[in-house]
Amino acid sequence: MTSGVRRSKSELYEELKGRPHIRRYREGDYRPGAWFDADPGTEDWGTWGTRAKPGKRGLTLMDINAADGVPVPDVGPPVMVTRGGAWRSDAPPRQWEVNDKYLIWSDNVVSLYEEGASRQWSATRDIPWESLTPLPPALERAYCQFMTHLASVEYTANDSLAPWAARINTTFHEVKFFLYQQMVDEARHSEVFRKRALAGGGGLGVSNAYIPGLPLSGQANPFRQKLNDDFNALSYFIQFLSEGIFLDNFRFCEFLAQTDVDRIIFGRVMQDEARHVSYGVMRLKYYLEHAPDRQAALDEMHAIADEAEILKQSVDMVNPQILEPLAIMAGGGVDRMEQGMDVYRQVWTKVVEEYLRRCDVAGFPRRDRTYLFHEPPF
Ligand SMILES: [Fe+2]
Ligand SMILES: [Fe+2]
Repeated sequence: MTSGVRRSKSELYEELKGRPHIRRYREGDYRPGAWFDADPGTEDWGTWGTRAKPGKRGLTLMDINAADGVPVPDVGPPVMVTRGGAWRSDAPPRQWEVNDKYLIWSDNVVSLYEEGASRQWSATRDIPWESLTPLPPALERAYCQFMTHLASVEYTANDSLAPWAARINTTFHEVKFFLYQQMVDEARHSEVFRKRALAGGGGLGVSNAYIPGLPLSGQANPFRQKLNDDFNALSYFIQFLSEGIFLDNFRFCEFLAQTDVDRIIFGRVMQDEARHVSYGVMRLKYYLEHAPDRQAALDEMHAIADEAEILKQSVDMVNPQILEPLAIMAGGGVDRMEQGMDVYRQVWTKVVEEYLRRCDVAGFPRRDRTYLFHEPPF
């Protein structure tokens, strides 16, 4: 199968040579095209006279946005252009799937991106791996199991986000930058968890992000298809519900950590996750405040959240591959698993409460409707 664009090399070369501007260069005529003299705001030039001033941190996106004064439009144009730049009406259009600001914007996305840029870290260099001392065997085994699970589920975020980064109009570059950055963050999380499992004398446990024997716990669940079809479902499920729950679990893990390596890993990962969740919460708030039909948007979000909570709680939250290692880690050994589970029951209640608090912040009250149980079902 060919795309029909192939031809001989000599034909292609002649065609390129024959284009008007290339013929001009070949003839020694080096005057620049219309872009060089065109006025700002025309088809051949965007803006002029902007002088963005760097602040204490350097030149941020906030600095250039303040300087150029070009507003973020409610709807992006059907072209691939950086915001404020010109585009020729005779250029081929680029039909983006996501063109509406209200679907993707959040009031903190610009500063979150800058914060993320200044806090990038390396799983290779920034963890004091050489200081890692082995834990007692049962604890190391629990740790390795938990790390294996985390290394696996981190893929879910990226594999779900990746198609969306490509669908969003370039006018909203801050959102695209943020999603690209989040993907780098998630790759590093999977990397650091995998490295931790292999650095302490243990190894990789059972890598099963989905619960065995429950077919709808996996990719076959219709809600997972929705993540690919609806940005609301995607952003809410990944950046609000799931990452929020992970963030609160990581807080607990940082508290449990017995080595500097583990404390530092969870500390770093939490910083990243906090940005992803912060976007998720503020995006939902922006969406609910700016959707053309607010009541319809709210009703639709509640329906999405019903399904998402059911999936999240039935699969991730009660997955024995998370609960059991956490109970061993919290109890301090396999013989103290019961006490550890008691501790984790309290964490669960707090995790649910934190989630409902985020819903309140987003103007999305779920307290009377949520499928998440304050009282853990175990
Ligand atoms: Fe992550
Ligand atoms: Fe994340």
